[in-house]
Amino acid sequence: MEDFAQEAKKHLDQSQINYIYSGTESQSTLDRNVAAFSRYLVQRRVLRNIESVELNVSYFDKRLSSELPFFPAPVNCSPLYPNAIVDLLKVTNSFSVPVFVSQVSVIRPLDPSRLPQLVKNKSSSLIWQIYMQTDNIVDCYKHAKLAESWGYKALAVTVDAELNVKLRNEIAAQTASHSFVKVTPKEIKKLRQLSSLPLIVKGVMNADDAELAIESGADGIVISNHGARVLDHMSSTLEVLPEIVGRLKAKKKTRHAEVFFDGGIRRGTDILIALALGARACLLGRPVLWALSCDHENGITQMMTILKSELERAAILCGVAKISSVNSAVVRKAEF
Ligand SMILES: Cc1cc2nc3c(=O)[nH]c(=O)nc-3n(C[C@H](O)[C@H](O)[C@H](O)COP(=O)(O)O)c2cc1C
Repeated sequence: MEDFAQEAKKHLDQSQINYIYSGTESQSTLDRNVAAFSRYLVQRRVLRNIESVELNVSYFDKRLSSELPFFPAPVNCSPLYPNAIVDLLKVTNSFSVPVFVSQVSVIRPLDPSRLPQLVKNKSSSLIWQIYMQTDNIVDCYKHAKLAESWGYKALAVTVDAELNVKLRNEIAAQTASHSFVKVTPKEIKKLRQLSSLPLIVKGVMNADDAELAIESGADGIVISNHGARVLDHMSSTLEVLPEIVGRLKAKKKTRHAEVFFDGGIRRGTDILIALALGARACLLGRPVLWALSCDHENGITQMMTILKSELERAAILCGVAKISSVNSAVVRKAEF
């Protein structure tokens, strides 16, 4: 992914580069998201005779399925070029994976109700991601209600951007004109009532919050610090993953919840580590934007292919034949 990150810069202007690559203030959360993976080591296994690995996973009682345990996170790709979201959706031409569609990536004349029809691969599914903003709250609920009839297979609400995205020392120009609503259990319950789609709360970094999200009616969460774009000196997402999974698994009421994960995934081994620590899928933010910038649909296909082959190789070498049953025996904490 580092090669994509370098190459993408040749295709972007300075304001696009700032928008995609930056984190908040000192960049400490951003650095930590990536560095956290080197705090874990994968366990090499031999004498296993594993030749291939089953990478497919299903979610929400099989209402959503994926050929791979990683797929695109919701990203505002409209600052790259107006139809970037259409190219992003084409990843489903090459892979049967879910794709999160960020509400803010769909700009006129594109219409969110028509995007599911662009997906030719019927095994793929789109997840409609909403931001609750003071100027769109009515549309937000309306779209949440209609998403199922439009063909989306799940609904996600991002809850961690209430003081907006801050890149280095500035509120991002791309989002500065919006005020984000402080989402509470009340809004989650309302979304739950409006839609029977699986509901995902994105932007959870704490076990109490994870429990509250599920008890308020969500079916899953995304452990995310918004790609380190909201608050400096936060925990990395990998640091909080085991505790959040442990808490949700400990209670009957929350045990069924799906836990997705994002932040700092740059290698197949990163995916293996996050899955071993309890994530059920890893989402990719910046890698998707870098790949789109480099070569649109082809770039994403190449990016997904590379991560798939890295994950397959790592899984086989660690004795994992079925990715959906990977567990913490595959990793250990680094001692130095
Ligand atoms: C340029 C950019 C735009 C983003 N836009 C959105 C968005 O529209 N909705 C959302 O929920 N998250 C958004 N995110 C956050 C991503 O969904 C994801 O949480 C984060 O990028 C994961 O970290 P990574 O970039 O290290 O993979 C955005 C991130 C970036 C870098």
